[in-house]
Amino acid sequence: MRLIRAKDYQDASRKVANIISAQVILTPDCVLGLATGSSPLGAYSQLIQWCKKGDVDFSKTKTVNLDEYVGLSPVHEQSYSYFMHHNFFDHINIEPRNTHLPNGLVLDEEKECSRYDQVIRDLGGVDLQLLGIGENGHIGFNEPTNEFVTGTHKVDLTPSTIAANSRFFADKNMVPRQAYTMGMLDIMRAKRVVMIATGANKAQAVYDAFCGPVTPQMPASIMQLHPDFILVADEAALALVGDKL
Ligand code: GLP
Repeated sequence: MRLIRAKDYQDASRKVANIISAQVILTPDCVLGLATGSSPLGAYSQLIQWCKKGDVDFSKTKTVNLDEYVGLSPVHEQSYSYFMHHNFFDHINIEPRNTHLPNGLVLDEEKECSRYDQVIRDLGGVDLQLLGIGENGHIGFNEPTNEFVTGTHKVDLTPSTIAANSRFFADKNMVPRQAYTMGMLDIMRAKRVVMIATGANKAQAVYDAFCGPVTPQMPASIMQLHPDFILVADEAALALVGDKL
């Protein structure tokens, strides 16, 4: 793995945006794996600015998102589909038909998971996957568990994830209890993976994931085994790591 040290969130966002824009400039029809949450927002807004200036062109780019809440329609304001449109897709020159997310309204788990796995296969896999990290080390919505799950699957969110994500909802009881997420194999098969981790609340997860053993109890730790994994982290998130990486 490679570590890129950033000063703060803004610096980390710009460094991540640089990596993504380089990918799109070199391979305009590449497949980007995208993430939600607060972590990638700064990178998205930097990419929007560059796109508006004409420096990055997303017209041929395809995207697959990591996850979606089960039960929320794509137009629900807390759905990840809404998040992606509102914070990124609606402001860049991407073709809406080239953007993909799991459909949270399909309750037939087997049908939706195999459809999404097929979408990823039909695109030829992911060239560059962007990841955040949950406070408990989850990636996408791959929560700590006893085994790594390979393909797209439905997960029960842990109380810690529900609590962390409740800040986006009016009330904790409104946070969906389940989500569809890409599996670990989908993520590991991406040619390159970039993770952004910032803030003191991520310091323990970053330490455990990258200075500890590879274990499904700390899902992000599997990235230690990826041949082209880049961690972009700020000083606060690296507080416990120090010089160990
Ligand atoms: C959610 C998403 C993850 C994201 C995580 C961290 O659970 N499913 O993809 O990495 O939140 O979010 P944040 O970046 O807001 O800390």
